Amino acid sequence: MTDRFQNWQPPKIEHGKLTEYNWVVYRPENFKLGQKTDIGAFTAIFAHHGVTIEDEVQIGSHCTLYSASTIDEKEGPVFLKRNCRIGSHSIVMPGVTVGENTIVGAQSFVNRDLPPNVVAAGVPAKVVMPLKKYLEKLKSRKAKE
Ligand SMILES: CC(C)(COP(=O)(O)OP(=O)(O)OC[C@H]1O[C@@H](n2cnc3c(N)ncnc32)[C@H](O)[C@@H]1OP(=O)(O)O)[C@@H](O)C(=O)NCCC(=O)NCCS
Repeated sequence: MTDRFQNWQPPKIEHGKLTEYNWVVYRPENFKLGQKTDIGAFTAIFAHHGVTIEDEVQIGSHCTLYSASTIDEKEGPVFLKRNCRIGSHSIVMPGVTVGENTIVGAQSFVNRDLPPNVVAAGVPAKVVMPLKKYLEKLKSRKAKE
């Protein structure tokens, strides 16, 4: 398989404007983007109080990362640690850190920190299994194909 990140370059990011991949950042001066990251279309990032996306993080389409939430008056920096994955249509709330390698299921509401190396899902997001178990399941599923 070819490495789709071989020639990875960050897109041009301007306040409130869609990137070439159709995601958007507000207050990009408080936004940090790692290398070989992949962010899906229509994801919105509200970086007012800081959003950091580390290397190799993948985010599905239609996610929202809030470092400020006016409805419930919450604010705080968001950290997506290296190689974590955020399923489509998920919401990450202010002050939350998603740990390294952790996978968040689609349509999750992440309102508390998630540890590294787990699969978490739901509203609110809870740990559903260790990453090791998920990878073993994936391996045996692929072996049967
Ligand atoms: C989280 C995920 C990776 C788990 O995959 P999986 O191991 O094949 O899933 P399973 O069906 O075995 O799930 C294990 C448990 O978590 C629950 N679960 C899985 N995904 C969930 C979700 N998104 N929300 C709530 N619960 C979820 C399952 O119901 C199951 O619970 P149970 O044991 O009580 O029945 C997958 O369901 C998912 O959401 N992937 C994201 C896909 C995506 O967004 N793709 C687009 C971007 S590229």
